[in-house]
Amino acid sequence: MSGIGSDLLKVAMPKGRIYKQASKLFREAGLPIPSDFDDTRKLIIELPEAGMEFIMAKPVDVPTYVEYGVADIGIVGKDVLMEENKDVYELLDLGIAKCRMSVIGLADWKPTIHPRVATKYPNVASAYFRERGQQVEVIKLNGSIELAPLIGLADRIVDMVETGQTLRENGLVEMESIFGITSRLIANRVSYRLKNDRIQSLCDRLQEIIVSNQALN
Ligand code: PRP
Repeated sequence: MSGIGSDLLKVAMPKGRIYKQASKLFREAGLPIPSDFDDTRKLIIELPEAGMEFIMAKPVDVPTYVEYGVADIGIVGKDVLMEENKDVYELLDLGIAKCRMSVIGLADWKPTIHPRVATKYPNVASAYFRERGQQVEVIKLNGSIELAPLIGLADRIVDMVETGQTLRENGLVEMESIFGITSRLIANRVSYRLKNDRIQSLCDRLQEIIVSNQALN
């Protein structure tokens, strides 16, 4: 059943590294999310007091759920939004899960005749090199991207850098930062019209918290 016709506001929440920060922000905005939700393996969690239902999603799938309207809104990193390029509204920069998308290589990197770039983000990487008129072969991997230059699969990678620890521990260097990443609140286009009051009031509450958190930092 589509989320659009339902009375609960369906929220696609990314499991993993964004979840803790996103749930903290929601709690600060007054939503009663019990702390035992943080470790649950349940995939659909109702919060009837808040008129919400959380869909616990793999982060990369959040824009798909929202585009199809099975979730009215969702939380997703700018990295995934850029890569997936789905037809959704980007409503708010939540300012959480800050990191950056970068080109990375070995410290002694030199241009090669047939450059290969490994990444979880083939669309982002292809666009980046295309815009610079550089021909590269983009190899899609699903994780541990930093392995690629270490074992000779690719001479560079395009990946997220947060603390830089993974790079340091593997003797890699950041060659260029492509864009900054934070998590965003996104909405289905139809839900945004039909459930506008609720979505807008959630946005307003979150915005207040974001601004006051920024003032503290
Ligand atoms: C991400 C990213 C880097 C690392 C960056 O991987 O792909 O490998 O985090 O973080 P750092 O700068 O703080 O070291 P993730 O932990 O999501 O796992 P993955 O290798 O399975 O993609």
